[in-house]
Amino acid sequence: MKPLARFTKGASLVSVLVGLTAGMMGCSPSYPMDTLSNGSDFARRIHSIYVFVNWIDFVIMLIVLAVMFLAIFWFSTRVGEPGEPSTVTSDIRLEVAWTAIPALILVFITVPTIRTIWATQPDHWPADALTIKVIAHQWWWEFQYPEYGIDTADEVHLQAGRMVHFAMESADIIHSFWVPTLGGKRDVVPGQINSITYTPDQLGMFYGQCVEFCGDSHANMRLRAFVQTKDDFDKWVKQQQSPPVTPAGGSAAAGAQIFANAPCAICHTVKGLTGLSPQYSGTFKGPDLTHFGSRSTLAGSILENTPENLAKWIQDPDKVKPGANMPTLGLKGKDLNDLVAYLESLK
Ligand code: CUA
Repeated sequence: MKPLARFTKGASLVSVLVGLTAGMMGCSPSYPMDTLSNGSDFARRIHSIYVFVNWIDFVIMLIVLAVMFLAIFWFSTRVGEPGEPSTVTSDIRLEVAWTAIPALILVFITVPTIRTIWATQPDHWPADALTIKVIAHQWWWEFQYPEYGIDTADEVHLQAGRMVHFAMESADIIHSFWVPTLGGKRDVVPGQINSITYTPDQLGMFYGQCVEFCGDSHANMRLRAFVQTKDDFDKWVKQQQSPPVTPAGGSAAAGAQIFANAPCAICHTVKGLTGLSPQYSGTFKGPDLTHFGSRSTLAGSILENTPENLAKWIQDPDKVKPGANMPTLGLKGKDLNDLVAYLESLK
């Protein structure tokens, strides 16, 4: 082999190895949106299909490689032999074999796949399942808990070991709900209720994302799922059920006045807040802010919930989440700080 050809061959081998390593690193559990860590029965079922298909692929790869190398060494032309290849044009036994074997392999893969689809898409669920109504909006997620009278946004709390049934619809266009660690995707379609059910069993916070292109801020339509112990979940429910105390004085009280008299209340609800300007009837739906201060994120779950980020968001929503319905109110200085103080007080 000439030195250049040897070098090219070596270089392509190195790039294949680098590519493989990078690919495998992409599957490492340290990546928060990976589909390989299993936080629910649903995710584990999908994972077992994935592993099963990969084993079949691996065996096929070994057979193909073995036959290929055998063919290379067995049928290659030796020095001094005439160089003409074999003139065989067809072999019926071979053709039957390479049609029947892949068909059989497909059957092996199809049967468990269909069984998994049936198992993960039940028509009914136990009466004690936690039903959460999911309403997708451009570009945020609304989570309603009819059983508890809770309405929250972008952060969904679940109880480990208790089946959750998400009943999902869209307020505008098609979105898709996905928390990779907990289970599969489901399209969220206007005028139709789609369901997804699973029993989360791994405690922690898991990232989710809208996975159907839905306009300017599709990529900014994120969510967080918190899987909690029964005690922690019950505590969260209790806290969400009790309206926050309207601040009596200071910056937060001034902020409550601003909230009630600025256009905020056209779209946003804060349960228990009095003194709303009468023209603000809440006809346009934005996230319920009753317990805004207890959330870890804001603006479609793209920013950590800190006073600085909240001020940044209120000052120029379109810069943070392009296309967002939230208008620029022109608040600054003390008014902005007061409003931020009020919203952060809503624990
Ligand atoms: Cu909603 Cu993409």
